[in-house]
Amino acid sequence: MSVERPAIEHQTVPSGDGVSAGVGRVVIVGQGYVGLPLAVRAVEVGHTVVGFELDKDRVDRLRRGQSFIDDITDDDLRAALDTGRYLPTDDATELAGFTTAVVCVPTPLRDGAPNLSFIEDAARLLAPHLRRGACVVLESTTYPGTTEEVFGPILDAGSGLRAGVDYQLGYSPERIDPGNPTWGLQNTPKIVSGVDDESGKAVAAFYDTVVDRTVAAPGVREAELAKLLENTFRHVNIALVNELAIYCHELGIDVWSVVDLAASKPFGFMKFTPGPGVGGHCLPIDPSYLSWQVRRALGRTFRFVEIANDVNDNMPGYVVTRIVEHLNRRRRAANGSRVLLVGLTYKRNSGDARQSPATGVARRLVDLGAEVRAVDPRIAVDELPANVELVACTPEVVADSDVVVVLADHDEIDWQLLEQNADRVLDTRNRLTGTGVDRL
Ligand SMILES: NC(=O)c1ccc[n+]([C@@H]2O[C@H](COP(=O)([O-])OP(=O)(O)OC[C@H]3O[C@@H](n4cnc5c(N)ncnc54)[C@H](O)[C@@H]3O)[C@@H](O)[C@H]2O)c1
Repeated sequence: MSVERPAIEHQTVPSGDGVSAGVGRVVIVGQGYVGLPLAVRAVEVGHTVVGFELDKDRVDRLRRGQSFIDDITDDDLRAALDTGRYLPTDDATELAGFTTAVVCVPTPLRDGAPNLSFIEDAARLLAPHLRRGACVVLESTTYPGTTEEVFGPILDAGSGLRAGVDYQLGYSPERIDPGNPTWGLQNTPKIVSGVDDESGKAVAAFYDTVVDRTVAAPGVREAELAKLLENTFRHVNIALVNELAIYCHELGIDVWSVVDLAASKPFGFMKFTPGPGVGGHCLPIDPSYLSWQVRRALGRTFRFVEIANDVNDNMPGYVVTRIVEHLNRRRRAANGSRVLLVGLTYKRNSGDARQSPATGVARRLVDLGAEVRAVDPRIAVDELPANVELVACTPEVVADSDVVVVLADHDEIDWQLLEQNADRVLDTRNRLTGTGVDRL
């Protein structure tokens, strides 16, 4: 199907060196969880935005005004398209003439090591279109040194220009927390950095048009590492309460009360809650970028990361052990039992099922021969774990389950119906309170 593309207003690129202030032609490479909200916001403040995306299906959906991420509604997207200043495209010729380019592509792991191929490809793609005075920013989460040692050199080689001399180059980590109703792109302070002073100013000048407050880092490595610290901090603290939850269960102590009691201290404590494991694009991956870099550069082990990985990776298996214990108490084998999983995405009110711990729970149960059904109003059908049937949350479905397991507590789920009809529940999110509910 051919889709008509909105015309794009070509603006003049500031010539010569120096900071390009005000609005301009912005290329955002990657229109996913990070790139799309940035594109929509940049259009909102007056920039002309080329949302460059390799996934043709995503491009088509964006052009039709159909958002595929939670934080951007179809109305937000249509408003951006209606300005005539947002062009989702997979056509590389549209990259020409940018004043600012921002790279928001995935940074996964490959065999436990950072896979920077998406960043490298994006740099190769942008380099021929890079002009004197333009600014290029990397936003993808990565280990310190990536901007200066990997990304910049590819841009230099492909453009014949030099970072910090002919064009500005910097790093600005994304802090988006999908589904967070309080902190979004605009009101979350944004760390900005450049490979030299002029680059730092150019990066800040762009983000000052987009967010309420920018925080200048002394250099790009500090900005790169700050992002890894933020996510490693979260990963380690979740591992801490997860391990505590396991021991509390064995000791007969309610871990949720313990956490709440500790959180009554107004200083020196930050509340993290246990769960079935970690998921999404960040926590299962980013800390490993840090430990990989420490091992590579210093030959040492980042022990906190290793321990946190170990604890959090084992949580889905632990949840299955608790499910099997439930069934055992009813003199049932997992094989042939009906298990209803509630919430398959990696966290509440998110449609993101990437690396979700629910996948590990479902896979193990299926391997054990259980009949696994799931309730999740947010998950895309093609993200369903294999051999799991998506069902409606009806009294019959709930009552017909040998055990109900809460893995993600979306607001749309009818919690009262679950409480009233479930015989046995394992709640890993502390959402339910009734009798017969076993909490993690
Ligand atoms: N999702 C989050 O909550 C979050 C938060 C902070 C930081 N980050 C980081 O931001 C980066 C992007 O994450 P995301 O969640 O947006 O990923 P995503 O998979 O949702 O989106 C990335 C998009 O980039 C596209 N892409 C890949 N290579 C491309 C190329 N060469 N040209 C054009 N498009 C290309 C992919 O098709 C995909 O649509 C990652 O480094 C991630 O760690 C993510």
